[in-house]
Amino acid sequence: MKNIEVCLTPELLKLYTAENKAVVVVDIFRATSTMVTALSEGVAAILPVEDLETCRQLSSEGYIIAGERNGQKAEGFVLGNSPLEYLEGAYSGQKIAMTTTNGTFAINQVKEKAEEILMGAFLNLQATADYLHTLNLDVLILCAGWKGKFNLEDTLYAGALVSLLSSTFDTSCDGALAAKFLYEQNSDQLESFLSQASHTKRLQNHNIEQDIKFCLTLNKYPIVVSLSGKILTITQEK
Ligand code: MLT
Repeated sequence: MKNIEVCLTPELLKLYTAENKAVVVVDIFRATSTMVTALSEGVAAILPVEDLETCRQLSSEGYIIAGERNGQKAEGFVLGNSPLEYLEGAYSGQKIAMTTTNGTFAINQVKEKAEEILMGAFLNLQATADYLHTLNLDVLILCAGWKGKFNLEDTLYAGALVSLLSSTFDTSCDGALAAKFLYEQNSDQLESFLSQASHTKRLQNHNIEQDIKFCLTLNKYPIVVSLSGKILTITQEK
């Protein structure tokens, strides 16, 4: 039986192996939610970049640059990190270079290590679960957290995915069990439960509550997003 584990923050990644596994990176508020939305809304490709300066320089190579730090658009960038910026095909056909506080950092910790790297969001939860069922790979869910710390929203997503995969995956990971129980206790009240989360309050301070509601929408986009080399693209559209 395939195995599933949950790494609750990138700080704990040294305790796990990514090799020969499918790693699902999750940053619900908002990096992976934004990536899934952008690609579903027609963006051709996304280049996740770890630092601001490298990302800024990519505008001279035809990329639209999207940069966020501490929940706000970084200085000198065209876009921040809101999924709403990509709706109605606003950037359809474009290449996006993106750097965020936690999400792109987490991706860079596992790129070139895992067999497959997928972007997890509530927006494409079922499609990602269905795809993982077709792979003969163990799964590691990597929660991006907040600056190395645990956060509720990424852990809830991890629990939702563990719950969906529990019929064909086994786990001996207490992090996976805790995430699953946390999700199953709150699956019908995600928005109200997460109203107490630290990043919800951080985003509310920037008047971006609409992003919160959007990022918690289940299965809006039936797509799988994966990292091919250095580029994020849609792997499988149902
Ligand atoms: C992150 O990468 O930490 C988040 O997406 C931050 C945000 O966009 O609010």
